Amino acid sequence: MREIILADNAGFCFGVSRAVKEAFTLGEKGKKVFTFGELIHNRDVVEKLKDSNVEVLENDPGEALKKDDTVIIRSHGLSEENVKKLKASSDNVVDLTCPYVSNIHRIVREHADLGYTVVILGDKNHPEVMGINGWCYNKAIIVRNGSEDFRVPLKVCAVAQTTEKLENWVSLITRLSAEAKEIRAFNTICAATGLRQNSTEELSKKVEAMVVIGGKHSSNTTKLYEISRNNCINTYFVENAEELKQYTEELKKYSRIGVTAGASTPDWIIKEAIELL
Ligand code: F3S
Repeated sequence: MREIILADNAGFCFGVSRAVKEAFTLGEKGKKVFTFGELIHNRDVVEKLKDSNVEVLENDPGEALKKDDTVIIRSHGLSEENVKKLKASSDNVVDLTCPYVSNIHRIVREHADLGYTVVILGDKNHPEVMGINGWCYNKAIIVRNGSEDFRVPLKVCAVAQTTEKLENWVSLITRLSAEAKEIRAFNTICAATGLRQNSTEELSKKVEAMVVIGGKHSSNTTKLYEISRNNCINTYFVENAEELKQYTEELKKYSRIGVTAGASTPDWIIKEAIELL
């Protein structure tokens, strides 16, 4: 008898769930709807949205949008400059930036204006981080864990990408406290991230194999994979049940399998994967 255990905290977080729900509702109204970049890092959801009239806008909004098109700002948020561009191109901008991310925008703007140099812990190519940097005039120092070669400013305001690992935050703050004169540190790692990471940590210690479900470009899912793999060598990272199929023979040898999913993985994908297992 095989036991499949779903992590206590897995799947859609509050910010993603709100954005996806609202996007489907807007799409159902029949008018063309765009999201500025993919709404979430999950291809299945992006495809479903397309079927519901919600398209991804990759190009310059100035060229692609008509004034009465609806355009959504996704939960990752956008730089102030891009928000302005969107508003100049469309009269119907729907801002679905997660409130926790908007809060980071406020913090960095306020501190940049007070003369602090902002340090962002995160991935410099991730849209959330690029958006945050935009709110402090694109002048932030962006680091992965603080051990990099950079000059610590005297007056620092530190924030983190919402999906960061706590150990990276601790490492950054340790370095800043040793070298800066004045620090304002805002641990902006989202509680949803922490809960998913802790549940994955616990579960991956007590099973023989783990299945991590989520988009390959999803930062928070990748971190769940890393955590799980640390404790459980038999960790499989898949986007959906379809991709899991190739491992089902291999997985038959395990009697206790854990399942977890990133904050951008919808319930129906988790359910399909569990049914397959
Ligand atoms: Fe928001 Fe946290 Fe999700 S910042 S988008 S609730 S991971």
